[in-house]
Amino acid sequence: MTSSAAPDPTASDPAALSPRLPSPLQEVADGRFARHGLRLLLKRDDLIHPELTGNKWRKLAPNLKAAAGRTVVTFGGAWSNHLRATAAAGRLLGLRTVGVVRGQELADRPLNPSLARCAADGMRLHFVDRTTYRRKSEPETLAAVLRGIGAEEPYVVPEGGSNTLAVRGCRTLGQELGGHADVVALACGTGGTLAGLAAGLPPGPRVLGIPVLKGGFLTADVEALQERAFGARRGTWSLDERFHFGGYARVTPELDAFAEDFTGRHGVPVERLYVAKLLYALVALADEGAFARGTTIAAVVTGSPFPARP
Ligand SMILES: Cc1ncc(COP(=O)(O)O)c(C=O)c1O
Repeated sequence: MTSSAAPDPTASDPAALSPRLPSPLQEVADGRFARHGLRLLLKRDDLIHPELTGNKWRKLAPNLKAAAGRTVVTFGGAWSNHLRATAAAGRLLGLRTVGVVRGQELADRPLNPSLARCAADGMRLHFVDRTTYRRKSEPETLAAVLRGIGAEEPYVVPEGGSNTLAVRGCRTLGQELGGHADVVALACGTGGTLAGLAAGLPPGPRVLGIPVLKGGFLTADVEALQERAFGARRGTWSLDERFHFGGYARVTPELDAFAEDFTGRHGVPVERLYVAKLLYALVALADEGAFARGTTIAAVVTGSPFPARP
């Protein structure tokens, strides 16, 4: 099957994949919170679907539907959770997918396990140099990349999947959490999940985002995503920029040990690049006295480890 073939109108609706929605909300007994008079709930979005886990389901499902059988072209780095989820969705729904991968040099090396999984799921990988990748949202660069791919009428999903449809799709996460917590916390990459969640959450709770990238640009990005999706800033949200551990995909031995210990205590697999940083931040903030006694915190488990950990 080539990506230049015509759209396949029989490609099925993602709803046919039977997502587990609303996702479970699980209370965990953890002394590091209890000793400050806090309750910790885990919003188990990682259990929505075994392959489209966490925010991937919420962000991709509306886009897959809108693709209506067209080839889905999207972007990511060599370990991108988003690329893997898109590739899996393509296999499950009979959609052609192309992944534009950052790093021309990777084209000549054996695929890492994440890209190998994408390829095994039928995703065509298209490697581009880092300058092209950085400029991928400039219209001429994007047009040149799409010409290089040769897909007819492609449906383009941005890096991380955070377009307007995705942001609107994440409102359901906020709606599901309404009435259950005083603080809703989640890790942020592009901020698309936070943008939608904060808009969907009924008035009352505040949303706390933990960026996993360094740079301090995310407040403006989330505001822009909300402007585009809803016309204005929505909900009560803020970011704490102190828990990126050196930047995207940086995992220190301390963070790794923290995540392993969390799994040991609660039996919940902890994804390292996002979810571990969120949970670590919450323990640190609880120790700092950032939450008043009696506060219920809901931490969103936005994904699962890859490769799967016990
Ligand atoms: C597991 C996980 N959690 C959180 C995020 C961050 O989501 P967003 O880019 O919407 O901020 C991602 C990236 O998409 C992710 O893979």
